[in-house]
Amino acid sequence: MRRSRAILTVLATGALTAGALTVLSPSADAASTLGSAAAAQGRYFGTAVSINKLSDATYSSILNREFNSVTAENEMKIDALEPQQNQFNYTTADRLITLANGMGAKVRGHTLAWHSQQPGWMQSMSGTALRSAMKNHITQVMTHYKGKIDSWDVVNEAFDDSNGGRRDSNLQRTGNDWIEDAFKTARAADPAVKLCYNDYNTDNWTWAKTQGVYNMVKDFKARGVPIDCVGFQSHFNSGSPYPSNYRTTLQNFADLGVDVQITELDIEGSGTTQANTYANVVRDCLAVTRCNGITVWGIRDSDSWRASGTPLLFDANGNPKQAYTSTLAALGGSTSSPSPSASSSSASPSPSASQSSGTRSCTATVTVNAWTGGFVATVKVTAGGAALTGWTAGLTLPTGSAVTNTWSATAAGTSGAVSFTNVGYNGTVAAGGTTEFGFQGTGNPPSTTTTCTAR
Ligand code: G3I
Repeated sequence: MRRSRAILTVLATGALTAGALTVLSPSADAASTLGSAAAAQGRYFGTAVSINKLSDATYSSILNREFNSVTAENEMKIDALEPQQNQFNYTTADRLITLANGMGAKVRGHTLAWHSQQPGWMQSMSGTALRSAMKNHITQVMTHYKGKIDSWDVVNEAFDDSNGGRRDSNLQRTGNDWIEDAFKTARAADPAVKLCYNDYNTDNWTWAKTQGVYNMVKDFKARGVPIDCVGFQSHFNSGSPYPSNYRTTLQNFADLGVDVQITELDIEGSGTTQANTYANVVRDCLAVTRCNGITVWGIRDSDSWRASGTPLLFDANGNPKQAYTSTLAALGGSTSSPSPSASSSSASPSPSASQSSGTRSCTATVTVNAWTGGFVATVKVTAGGAALTGWTAGLTLPTGSAVTNTWSATAAGTSGAVSFTNVGYNGTVAAGGTTEFGFQGTGNPPSTTTTCTAR
């Protein structure tokens, strides 16, 4: 049931044009980004997104290039969606859905029932009125987003940090059955979406909080309370370090018959230590069949809620960190993607020989993911028999179409004949090697006829 919905979503948002649609079948040489490498492993690699940062070109470019799942960092929380009781404001959050459709990305919904970030009117409620308000919020929001979300964090952070019992909150005081009531309400609102319980400090198998959540999920499964997944926020730092039994924790939960997802990953630190921990987390997820996705809680260190701990994969300037390289490698991806023939033929010549041998040439191929009113185009530039020091790809947009956003290239023109030139880091391409850039547009997608000028 859920599988067929996921495929239908892709078909509905990805009307195929003359180019090949590769959303569901990443090719081997596409695994040069976190999202494509994870997809090759049957997983997603996502990030928290802050809508007000989308106008930041560096942020948007990394987002579009690297990730195939998004979570609203704050915009789908209760205070954002229902600021006054029964008055819903979806405008900002809906932008995330549009963005995700353009990227061909999944969306994690975060979060429906939580003691924190409640609007003022809810904070002052209690008893049956609060329980009804919680259920109404779940029903209204899930109905609005029906068919558009992959997994919902139905309940967030409901357990006490130390004793393995429930956290005290106004929701908890409505009765111990509030969590199962939330999940039953959620299932009734949208039978197809995955319903998750999400929490932090549940990574170490020996911790009381981990056991408390485990016992709740076990009980829900035994009694038929609907639950499909458990989210492990995995905010790691010196007070809550990555535990050596993390894989055991993920596997034990998965064995209860739920998917497990790493939902808010960040690891404070730097250099090799941080890089190794990121790689360990990825390897642990890949080792557990039902660990179907990883989300990092922000893009650049400067975007993090814990910015001073530099816990993310890109530095404040948007450069990939050592942790990025180790994460990509653990996912089976690679930062360089020369074709096998090029690497074998260039086994003996010196670097200077390969620079000067032959005339530089390149080709550009376009893959399009289109929907009514818009499209995302991914363009692969392939070097000929000599290494490139720069390239410009050109193509023509149909009348009425326009480029709205470009990543990993600099665009010249937005309509008609447009061209895209390499940026600083991807101008150099080995003989036979490839690099990719992309752009988003409104209107109908371009034809697959391209030009490529090599330098
Ligand atoms: O946007 C306003 C700004 O206009 C105002 O001037 C400023 C002054 O306080 O606040 C800004 O809003 C802040 C918002 O982040 C955006 O930066 C809120 O105060 C602040 O409370 C909010 O913090 C968020 C936090 O959840 C709230 O609980 C963090 O961004 C967000 O990363 C964090 O995410 C949580 C997950 O939802 C659940 N798990 C833990 C995780 C980290 O705390």
